[in-house]
Amino acid sequence: MSAKMLGIDIGGTGIKGALVDTVKGKLLTDRVKYSTPKNATPKNVIKTAMKIIKDLDWEGKPVGVGCPAVVRQGVTKSATNIDKSWIGFPVEDVFSDMAGADVLLLNDADAAGIAELSFGEAKGVSGVCLLITLGTGIGSAMFNDGVLVPNTELGMLKMKDGIAEDYATNRVREELEMSWKVWGGHLNHYLKHLEVLFSPSKIVISGGVCKKFDKYEEYLHTEAEVVPAKLLNNAGIIGAAMAMQRRLKKK
Ligand code: BGC
Repeated sequence: MSAKMLGIDIGGTGIKGALVDTVKGKLLTDRVKYSTPKNATPKNVIKTAMKIIKDLDWEGKPVGVGCPAVVRQGVTKSATNIDKSWIGFPVEDVFSDMAGADVLLLNDADAAGIAELSFGEAKGVSGVCLLITLGTGIGSAMFNDGVLVPNTELGMLKMKDGIAEDYATNRVREELEMSWKVWGGHLNHYLKHLEVLFSPSKIVISGGVCKKFDKYEEYLHTEAEVVPAKLLNNAGIIGAAMAMQRRLKKK
């Protein structure tokens, strides 16, 4: 079986995809990116994702797709930073019908975690390893001895007067024009809270802001080792492609 697979990462602002070598954990093409449509209903988002399939000449072939929601049996069960019509929508089936191909849908942070587990910073960690994506929202992937517990949604934890994702994610830093020091303090507070709850051995920071890790590293004082993701912003695409490839192998 070929190691080549298309991975697509659906986000609140952009939808990106690339062909992936799932054995090496590397992109085989440049990333193709489109803005998430304004009226971001599942069908409109799928239509945009189909452009990526066409651009990469991948029509009629299987696709792995990560999205910012809880996903159970191909149905999205939450919609924090996306249109509310995603809740309860059978995305996997509808996407498969529209694409005329097998589609596997999973949570975007779980996808990133799967890639970091095989090729990045979550590899070989014994005990609990957390991957936290900091973007528009906060996503999480939790592993225990390399086994994923899907849909952990650790950005939804109650913190201060609201939830963690409105306190410590990168969107908040940008919107409130926080200094790295102030935001680093928020992030530290959040990571320490995670530490109390889950005693991770290692925490991997993913999402665009992981590239700027040196700007806030000094404000993080957890007992667990905290590191930026190795695959940077490509982890979601790579992990989605890997998840689809695994499903095909099982068949
Ligand atoms: C969603 C998660 C997602 C995260 C990152 C959150 O708002 O609830 O499912 O993983 O954003 O995109």
